[in-house]
Amino acid sequence: MSAQAVRRTLVFAFALSFGAAFAVQQVQAQAAKEPKTVVLKGSPMGGVKFEHTLHTKDRNIKCDTCHHASKPEKAKTSDYQKCTDCHTKVATAPMKTKTQAAFHDPMAKKGVCVDCHLAENAKGKKAPTSKCADCHKKEHV
Ligand code: HEC
Ligand code: HEC
Ligand code: HEC
Ligand code: HEC
Repeated sequence: MSAQAVRRTLVFAFALSFGAAFAVQQVQAQAAKEPKTVVLKGSPMGGVKFEHTLHTKDRNIKCDTCHHASKPEKAKTSDYQKCTDCHTKVATAPMKTKTQAAFHDPMAKKGVCVDCHLAENAKGKKAPTSKCADCHKKEHV
């Protein structure tokens, strides 16, 4: 390679890495905008209203507590993708975890929401646990 070609390659590599860093920053800026409230529909018992910012900002819960890392059975196509894009009503192989199981077991005694709520309630908080209608409400449809 001539000296000039080396220089051109270096400039190009620098521009590439700069572009990549910029793209990462943009993704993070977009990701920070979580919806304030999400109403999860699907259950015949009624929709579940989930206060996002109350959980993340006020209670300082990390995003990846719920938005888990990509897994091989079905890789993510974007950060913070909807759970229901992958966890469908009925799980079809290679997926094993259907919608309900992504959130809780049949009696709502375990799961991402309930585990934390039980731990918080043991410390005197009042977060909804196995009383179905505390989360699933007919008015949230
Ligand atoms: C306690 C659990 C929990 C935490 C913590 C959490 N999220 Fe979420 N998030 C959810 C649920 C549940 C949904 C709704 C998913 C669905 O509709 O299937 C959601 C939806 C989203 C969506 C909308 C996805 C779409 O395409 O509609 C974005 C964006 C998002 N979250 C970003 C974040 C960010 C950023 C953080 C951290 C600052 C965060 N979330 C923390 C549970 C959580
Ligand atoms: C891009 C697809 C995808 C998205 C989006 C997604 N998951 Fe998953 N999830 C998977 C895969 C793949 C597995 C592993 C295979 C299985 O259990 O079906 C999994 C497994 C799980 C499990 C089983 C326990 C474990 O960790 O292995 C839970 C619980 C879960 N996800 C909850 C959620 C919740 C809650 C959300 C939304 C906040 C979510 N997932 C979003 C793909 C996804
Ligand atoms: C890491 C802990 C944690 C996780 C995970 C979590 N929560 Fe909570 N949640 C809390 C705390 C703390 C409270 C407030 C209890 C209080 O103030 O007495 C709460 C309260 C609530 C309430 C009552 C209204 C409100 O927002 O104050 C609802 C509804 C709720 N959570 C839904 C959910 C759902 C749905 C999920 C799962 C997608 C979830 N939570 C996951 C900690 C958590
Ligand atoms: C802490 C809140 C919470 C409690 C308590 C709770 N759930 Fe859920 N449940 C959810 C969330 C969030 C989802 C996902 C959104 C959806 O599918 O409606 C869900 C999903 C489900 C689904 C799957 C619906 C579908 O779309 O396939 C069923 C069935 C269900 N719950 C039944 C129950 C029953 C029965 C109880 C009481 C024993 C209960 N839930 C208690 C939060 C809760």
